[in-house]
Amino acid sequence: MGDVGLHVSGNPAEAVAQVLAEQARRGGSIVLTGGRTPGAAYERAAQLQPDWSRASAWWGDERCVPPDHELSNFRLAKETLLDRLAKKPDVHRIRGELQPADAAGEYDRALEGVDLDLVLLGLGPDGHIASLFPDSPQLLVRDRLVTSGSPGLEPLVERVTLTIPALLAAHRIVFLVVGGDKAAAVERAFGGRISAETPASLLRDGRAPIDIYLDGAAAARLDNDRRTRL
Ligand code: 6PG
Repeated sequence: MGDVGLHVSGNPAEAVAQVLAEQARRGGSIVLTGGRTPGAAYERAAQLQPDWSRASAWWGDERCVPPDHELSNFRLAKETLLDRLAKKPDVHRIRGELQPADAAGEYDRALEGVDLDLVLLGLGPDGHIASLFPDSPQLLVRDRLVTSGSPGLEPLVERVTLTIPALLAAHRIVFLVVGGDKAAAVERAFGGRISAETPASLLRDGRAPIDIYLDGAAAARLDNDRRTRL
């Protein structure tokens, strides 16, 4: 089981921006997340490190919409990170405009043999990661790196997502979690038993070190000795 570091601070997006900037400086494959939380970290990472030419950018999941759609995780990263960089990474987006299974198959092939150096994840209030939702059939997919399916939460559009094996193979996993609405999920994911009821907890079964950057509200239900102050 990989080390799990809990880093509680008033500005976890800044801490994650530093992590992203450092990884971009070193190069390697960086897997980006979607959702509402990471945008501030992406904007700050672009300021800290405008040269991502040694890195490649991937996504942990994507909604099955065109790349310019307001729900697109690619569009989020394009607007808050990629368009702000002086030197861009190789970009490997999930083609959400395709049929879900076709997009998943294409991305699975693209990821073959790729070492994922850093995977950034958010955490859903139900404990989902990427588009792997509690007790979903996608959690049982162990023979592929990418799969597709219907979400368990808004936005209710078909998804393409990395699988548990793909995430567990990463060299490093970093979470960015903000807000009291995530406190119960944080407690279950990182303090409770490892279970498909809380997909994030399944990553504790892997070898990759996991660093969780979160604010006080998201950490509110963790007991104090599980915390590391930045
Ligand atoms: C997505 C994300 C998803 C996200 C969580 C948290 O496609 O929505 O990949 O896994 O990280 O749902 O989202 P928020 O940051 O919006 O709370």
